Amino acid sequence: MTTEKVEWSPTFDTELRLVDGEHQALVIRLNGLIEQLTAGAPTAQWLPALDGLIQHVADHFAHEERVMENISYSDYIPHRDIHRQLLKEVAQFRQELNPDEPIKDTLATIRFLKFWVLRHVVQEDMKIKKFVYSGVYDIESD
Ligand SMILES: [Fe+2]
Ligand SMILES: [Fe+2]
Repeated sequence: MTTEKVEWSPTFDTELRLVDGEHQALVIRLNGLIEQLTAGAPTAQWLPALDGLIQHVADHFAHEERVMENISYSDYIPHRDIHRQLLKEVAQFRQELNPDEPIKDTLATIRFLKFWVLRHVVQEDMKIKKFVYSGVYDIESD
């Protein structure tokens, strides 16, 4: 399997130090998990890494929500609701995993987790950057 690991890209940058630092830490965790999955590690072995990732994402969401509140972010409520939805989605995914059984489709699992972490960063968190820097420079033409 070719590497599915994620390389940090400027498209992930919100230019908010705390947010970017936590996003980078999440990508490191995600890559560790991808490595184990790619190596075909038994489910029981990589589950703690998945649980750690989920916990850190939940902590990050709470921090990011505080930041959004502090800057009176206009789309705070919908953004917070998306966080809640993402946590529900991953909790359901996690619930279906059995430590004693191998997963059916490794690549699909990797892609689900990548999409789960990164889509939100690129699509929704970037709107916070746009809000913070609105009128300062045009984010779109970056
Ligand atoms: Fe975030
Ligand atoms: Fe977010």
